[in-house]
Amino acid sequence: MNPQLVILDFGSQVTQLIARTVRELGVYCEIIPGTASAAKVFEKKPKGIILSGGPSSVITPNGLFPAPEIWTAGVPIFTICYGMQLAAKCLGGTVEGWARDGQAESQSSVASGIREFGPAHVRFTNPIGPFKAIAPNSELRVWMSHGDKVTVPPPGFEVVGTSEGSPIAAFADEQRKIYGVQFHPEVHHTTMGKEMLGAFVLEVAGIKPDWNLGDFAEMVVRDVRAKVPEGNVICGLSGGVDSTVAAVLVHNAIGHRLHCIFVDNGLLREGESEQVFNSYKELNLNVTRVDAAERFLTELKGVTDPEKKRKIIGRVFIDVFEEEAKRIDDAQWLVQGTLYPDVIESVSVVGNSVTIKSHHNVGGLKENMQLKLIEPLRELFKDEVRAVGRALGIGEFFIARQPFPGPGLAVRCLGEITESKLTTLRKADLIVQEEVATAGLNEELWQAFAVLLPVFSVGVMGDGRTYEQTIAIRAVTSRDGMTADWYYFPEEILRRMSTRIINETPGANRVVLDVSTKPPSTIEWE
Ligand code: XMP
Repeated sequence: MNPQLVILDFGSQVTQLIARTVRELGVYCEIIPGTASAAKVFEKKPKGIILSGGPSSVITPNGLFPAPEIWTAGVPIFTICYGMQLAAKCLGGTVEGWARDGQAESQSSVASGIREFGPAHVRFTNPIGPFKAIAPNSELRVWMSHGDKVTVPPPGFEVVGTSEGSPIAAFADEQRKIYGVQFHPEVHHTTMGKEMLGAFVLEVAGIKPDWNLGDFAEMVVRDVRAKVPEGNVICGLSGGVDSTVAAVLVHNAIGHRLHCIFVDNGLLREGESEQVFNSYKELNLNVTRVDAAERFLTELKGVTDPEKKRKIIGRVFIDVFEEEAKRIDDAQWLVQGTLYPDVIESVSVVGNSVTIKSHHNVGGLKENMQLKLIEPLRELFKDEVRAVGRALGIGEFFIARQPFPGPGLAVRCLGEITESKLTTLRKADLIVQEEVATAGLNEELWQAFAVLLPVFSVGVMGDGRTYEQTIAIRAVTSRDGMTADWYYFPEEILRRMSTRIINETPGANRVVLDVSTKPPSTIEWE
């Protein structure tokens, strides 16, 4: 798939949001490092270019710069934050720095003073080009995050918007079709931000939307069929949405030549192994379930250190998977559910040098496996994977599932793992799942689950004294799992969960609520 638009990334935390906004418009775009050569930028003949924000400064020696040819190629350009400062600097304007360490730094040696972080108001005095849907002189609430700022626009540019902290908050050169905004239109908090990007892509650059996930699925099926005309393909299934969608796409291409392996590590939730396995069969997948619970639990016996537990689970998984894979004759390919955020090359500034990192998730299989990879989702964001899954007719059981960690209940059963602790945890967790589902909270919550703490306390039940373990309820909201906030359950739901857990869960006599944000805590307890 050729991108109609490229995003030059200068290291902003929110560059991916630009790409997602553009794709939501129905336009396929790709993110490449901001410092890529002109040949790389123009390789696929983009009709528009967007420059992202970034942490570096155009007026310090470690500033990152794009290939100079981009400014003269006649392709419309939209620049954001640091990108706007690049446009100013490269095309003859002035950028001034804020006082770093008490020292003014700028081309003209005048510090621009304060930095702006957070909400600000921009008055659009002259809304032209991508800003033309904004009423003249209206004020929009936008999101700012910058120290340096443009103080003199380059020749040919008009100032179109201004804020208290940034007199040149937006500029435009209608002749060359180059635009810049000091704020971030891609973030949710900027009013009409998506409209500005939309007008740039569809109207200024004149790109016709043709990114359709149904067509994408058909294209993947055709590609896989051509790539693997014979022989067998292996796929590890985890119960999650990514591996399921990847497997169904490949199955649609080559049918039962795709052999799926579902390793039951004995660390799944109540009834989950059966439920997931049956759902795979309903999808018609050629799947083998390997019951390796005993092997995992034996290896984990006596181990309490969280990192050791994780390492053992990872190692045993690979051993079991490889043993099973070797039974499949003539297997040369492995399907992986790698997503676009795993493969974007990102730029970062370390000291004075630029490092380009490339993340390739090869899943940790031993090299002697020598399998070639099929990664049908490597161009997609998670929400696009869900959309493809729905287009393929995969049910909500898979599509809308909350994330569940690879090491399963092991990271929620603190200390040593035993069958009896797992039984207690499963029972308590099922109650949390049921109450969250009954209250209709599944979509609102990123995750909700029970954690078993090996902390014994005294209780009284009927006439008897109890001395049992503790269950913590963990429920969080999050956009991406990178940061998270604890969820404030309505009192009656909390009461019902707590009463049910204490009454119905053998081995636990106390319930506590986890009210920690991430960071500094993590979502999982181990
Ligand atoms: P933490 O605990 O790091 O979790 O805040 C962030 C998100 O990642 C999930 N998680 C994992 N997923 N393998 C996975 O596939 C793992 O080892 C793993 N550890 C944590 C966690 O459930 C949360 O959604």
